[in-house]
Amino acid sequence: MLELTGVTKTFGGVRAVQDVSLAVSKGEVRGLIGPNGAGKSTLVNVISGLLKHSSGQLSLDGHLLDPLSPQKRAEQGIGRTFQNLRIFPSLSVMQNIEVARTTGVRSGRGNNGWITEAVAQFDLTDKVNIRADALSYGHLRRLEIVRALALQPLVLMLDEPAAGMNEQETEALSEALNWVRSQTNCAMLVIDHDLKFIMSLCEKITVLNMGSVIAEGNPTEISENQKVIDAYLGENHQDAA
Ligand SMILES: Nc1ncnc2c1ncn2[C@@H]1O[C@H](COP(=O)(O)OP(=O)(O)O)[C@@H](O)[C@H]1O
Ligand SMILES: [Mg+2]
Repeated sequence: MLELTGVTKTFGGVRAVQDVSLAVSKGEVRGLIGPNGAGKSTLVNVISGLLKHSSGQLSLDGHLLDPLSPQKRAEQGIGRTFQNLRIFPSLSVMQNIEVARTTGVRSGRGNNGWITEAVAQFDLTDKVNIRADALSYGHLRRLEIVRALALQPLVLMLDEPAAGMNEQETEALSEALNWVRSQTNCAMLVIDHDLKFIMSLCEKITVLNMGSVIAEGNPTEISENQKVIDAYLGENHQDAA
C-alpha cells in the first residue's frame, strides 16, 4: 500500500530523516514513535508532499508519489492531520467535512455513507452546525480526523492526535479509531508520545531516532527492545505508565 524506500530529508546540514524504508499494508494501523526531533513530523510532511524529500522513493498502491503535489497526493488517497490544526475557522463543522468529502468523491473513491456515523463516533453530532472556531480544542482535534477521513483516504496519517487530551478523551479517541478500522480498509500511521495509546492501538510500531529507523515490531517486541529503551523508553517511562 504505502511504501518508502531509502527516504532521506535534509535541512541544510541536518538529516531530519535518514534512509527510511517503510511499508504499511492495507488496513494496517502502524505506530510511529521516537524522541522529540527524531524526524516523525518531517516524515509525515514528506509523505504528504508538504516537504520535498532529498532522496529515496515513495509509492502508494504501486504508483510513484514523488512527482505529485500535496493536493494530488491527497486526491490519490494520502490523508493527514497536522500537529498544529488547520481547519477553516469560519466554516461550520459539517462544511469543513463536506469540503474534504467532495474532494474524495471527485477523486473517484466513491461516496462514504458512513460519514454520519463517523461524526457520531467522534462525538461531533451535536456540533455539525456550529462554526469550527467555536469548538473546544478536543472537538477541533476530532474534527481534524473526521475531515481527513471524509476524503476516503487509503492512508491516514495522524500526527500526535492524543496530544493535550486527558485519559478519558484519549480512550474515546482510541475507540473511535478502532471503529474506523472496523469500517474501512484505510491504513493508518499514528504518531504519539502516549505509549499506552499507541501500544493498544497499533499492531506494529516503527521507532525513529535521529532520523533513522532503529526498530520495528509489535508492541511487546518494541517495549523489550534495548535500543528503543536506551533512545526513548528509558526517559519516557512515566508517560508510558
Ligand atoms: N522546516 C525545518 N527547517 C529546518 N529544520 C527542521 C525543519 N523541520 C524540522 N527540522 C529539524 O528536523 C529534525 C526533526 O524534526 P521533526 O520532524 O519535527 O521531529 P519530531 O516530529 O520527531 O519531533 C529536528 O532536528 C528539527 O529541528
Ligand atoms: Mg513532531
